[in-house]
Amino acid sequence: MQTIIGYNLEYAAELLRNNELVAIPTETVYGLAGNALNSDAVTRIFEAKNRPHFNPLIVHLASLDQAESFVAEIPEQARKLAKHFMPGPLTLLLPRLPAVPDLVTAGSDFVAIRIPAHPVAIRLLQMLEFPLAAPSANPFGYISPTSAEHVLQQLSGKIPYILDGGLSHVGVESTIVGFSNGIPRLLRPGGVGREAIEAIIGEPLQDPEPNSNLKPVAPGMLETHYAPHTRFVLGNADELIKVYAGKKIGLLAFNKGREKVSSEDTFILSPSGTDTEAARNLFAYMRRLDEAGYEIIIAEPVPATGLGPAINDRLRRAAANR
Ligand code: TXA
Ligand code: MG
Repeated sequence: MQTIIGYNLEYAAELLRNNELVAIPTETVYGLAGNALNSDAVTRIFEAKNRPHFNPLIVHLASLDQAESFVAEIPEQARKLAKHFMPGPLTLLLPRLPAVPDLVTAGSDFVAIRIPAHPVAIRLLQMLEFPLAAPSANPFGYISPTSAEHVLQQLSGKIPYILDGGLSHVGVESTIVGFSNGIPRLLRPGGVGREAIEAIIGEPLQDPEPNSNLKPVAPGMLETHYAPHTRFVLGNADELIKVYAGKKIGLLAFNKGREKVSSEDTFILSPSGTDTEAARNLFAYMRRLDEAGYEIIIAEPVPATGLGPAINDRLRRAAANR
């Protein structure tokens, strides 16, 4: 199968109506989309990504009204969050209705819904008669794509079409919030910061329930998710540079380089020191470092406010078990 990059919404819609897959732009990362109500399309998503079937998929909608057919109930706090952050980089985990195929939720009674804030994605969703199941458009376990070219590099030959919507301007996946027993819980840090969410709901977000089945089934929660191929370490950059002296080092720094690593080998996530700029550059820089043939990639954590925890979470996973 030949994979084409283009801007043709009509063609993308036609493919999706035929239960084919299309990679779509969103403001967080590119998604690998298929008809969420069709098991063949959903099966194709798992196959193209090489993703285990026990990992459920987010259902993307054009508007909250559309959620009525898929969601049994929207708790008050969820409604407030939807009002403030949808469309946007927020995913809500809500009790599902039977219209959602089991394959999409991996058999869970909850469905993850999201309304992307990307004009191309919204336009496409409005054109379609069904919602789109879409995980990030990367092979299982690798770095999420933030451009059409990233998708092509990894899924070429596996999908017919990549809808080009430019660079994803948020750069990390959506924040996932669940409401087990009415208590709002942060299931994945992402494109909306914790503080912003807590300001709207007026209470602290809790951690996932320790024995909830959410934890093990979420691929975002598997330790080696987001892993580059090159050895990747996370910690105090100055110390790590000493530890790995003599090796060919690539440095992923927050807002400043280090004397001992040349500027060519240094990727600064945010020269201005902001969380949003760092998030936007994160995955593209991780890829470029991974492709450059270093013996080791040294990364430092970013300040833990706003999108910082989401960035640090992805860095930790990249560094896990390596
Ligand atoms: O920003 C995003 O959320 C991107 C764009 C494409 O929308 N999508 C994304 O999808 O990151 P994915 O599949 O890479 O990550 C979705 C996460 C996974 O950890 C998955 O297990 C969890 O959401 N998830 C989805 N449905 C769920 C459900 N019913 N119950 C529990 N976790 C769920
Ligand atoms: Mg993913």
